[in-house]
Amino acid sequence: MTPTPSAKATDTVQVEKGHYIATAADCVACHTAPGGKPFAGGYPIKTPVGTIYSTNITPSPTTGIGHYTKAEFFNAVRQGIGRGGKRLYPAMPYTSYAGITDNDMEALYAFFTSSVTPVEQENRPNTVHFPFNVRSGMIFWNWLYLDASTFQPRPQETPEIARGRYLVDNLEHCGTCHTPRTLLMGPANGRYLSGSIVGAWYAPNITTDKIAGIAEWTENDLRNYLKTGHALNKGQAAGPMGEVVTNSTQFLKSDDIDAMIAYLRQVSPIAGDEKQPRTSFSLAANPEETERGLAASADRGWSIFSGSCSSCHQPEGQGINAYPSLTHNSVTGSPNARNLVATILTGVERRTEDHATFMPAFGPSALWVNRLSDQDIADVSNFILKTFGNPSVQINASYVAKRRAELTP
Ligand code: HEC
Ligand code: HEC
Ligand code: HEC
Repeated sequence: MTPTPSAKATDTVQVEKGHYIATAADCVACHTAPGGKPFAGGYPIKTPVGTIYSTNITPSPTTGIGHYTKAEFFNAVRQGIGRGGKRLYPAMPYTSYAGITDNDMEALYAFFTSSVTPVEQENRPNTVHFPFNVRSGMIFWNWLYLDASTFQPRPQETPEIARGRYLVDNLEHCGTCHTPRTLLMGPANGRYLSGSIVGAWYAPNITTDKIAGIAEWTENDLRNYLKTGHALNKGQAAGPMGEVVTNSTQFLKSDDIDAMIAYLRQVSPIAGDEKQPRTSFSLAANPEETERGLAASADRGWSIFSGSCSSCHQPEGQGINAYPSLTHNSVTGSPNARNLVATILTGVERRTEDHATFMPAFGPSALWVNRLSDQDIADVSNFILKTFGNPSVQINASYVAKRRAELTP
């Protein structure tokens, strides 16, 4: 049956809307393996209980979700119940997606069934250990953590703040990284958005706390960060956040970015242990003057910095052009050295509409940079922390070795 022209036009609108929802919900990030076909699955997610592989969600009827009915698709995305009643692991963020409205689900379904290219690719088996490999255990977990009601604006909320909350909590699922987890891996909602470990990385506190949070980031800083991954003298998006910007937030409409910012601006502040904001550290002493005179006892960290980093970040860490300053930088001022170490190990790679941002990885050996050992990375980090960043944080080689292991798939 040939659809009438007007039905066809509505379909196109619906599919485009679904594409936007899928982008805002960042389905591609987890459902695409590195270098693999979009949505064909096989992306490894390391969890404390084993490695979980995402599945093929292209409309292939044999290896993908081509045989899913609409109701089955809705149940998988919002309730974590796969075809035939299989309980999905919450590595699939269905507790966030539970709030997606029926309208948006319809559009998402239209997009996945009629616009995504089917790919024949078998799913990889998970390596989850007992008892977590018993999927029915998720019934108890869901009872604790799954709020199965869809999003409803609250009476006291403006439409903009309601939209922002829907984007942050349901579509973008920001809290899956920025909210700490309980021992059972559920969200610790009393510590909403106050910062959490994500593999080797740390997703910082993004509440309105004046010291531990992002109260001093202006609206423009946040807009730049979510659109481009870079906010001058505040922070840069590398690792998992670089992927969020690359795959998702850069494509959001300005109204939606503004709604998220308006919402984030009014979440409750949650304090940490730090004494000053992580973006507030400035140069402690001129490294060229203090270090050159030391000759024999010269700090190893300083020589590594001079050899491997200062050509881009500049001798006094002040940065130049696309190379960020290492003072007034949320990574070097943080009470947690994870993002500093993970950045040195993995580098930075981020693509936005008109920009490719690149810093080489010093973890593996590459063609044109020296591979740095765990001791080298500890030394250069300690030099950076005490000269440009938070001098109360110092690390050793075994700290670096742990981050290196966490980054190995
Ligand atoms: C944070 C990572 C992550 C994101 C983001 C994500 N998924 Fe998933 N998804 C997974 C994982 C992992 C599984 C497999 C879970 C399991 O094996 O229990 C999965 C399973 C599924 C399934 C069940 C497929 C099957 O084979 O039965 C569907 C459908 C699905 N996801 C759709 C989506 C859609 C649509 C989106 C975006 C709205 C999305 N996912 C976003 C990680 C993710
Ligand atoms: C997949 C995990 C993940 C998700 C999802 C995620 N973030 Fe992040 N976020 C991180 C990590 C890790 C960092 C640190 C990145 C760095 O320093 O390079 C970060 C950094 C940030 C920062 C900068 C904070 C600072 O002090 O440097 C902001 C702001 C932020 N995220 C907001 C958000 C918002 C808003 C969302 C939802 C749209 C979101 N994040 C979703 C992991 C995540
Ligand atoms: C070839 C140039 C280059 C070199 C060499 C280089 N960097 Fe970078 N660095 C960059 C770029 C580009 C960025 C990302 C800027 C952005 O995200 O906007 C960056 C970002 C960073 C950040 C912030 C990361 C984040 O997640 O926010 C830190 C910290 C950093 N570099 C430290 C180092 C250290 C330490 C070395 C030496 C071991 C080094 N860099 C060598 C170019 C370089």
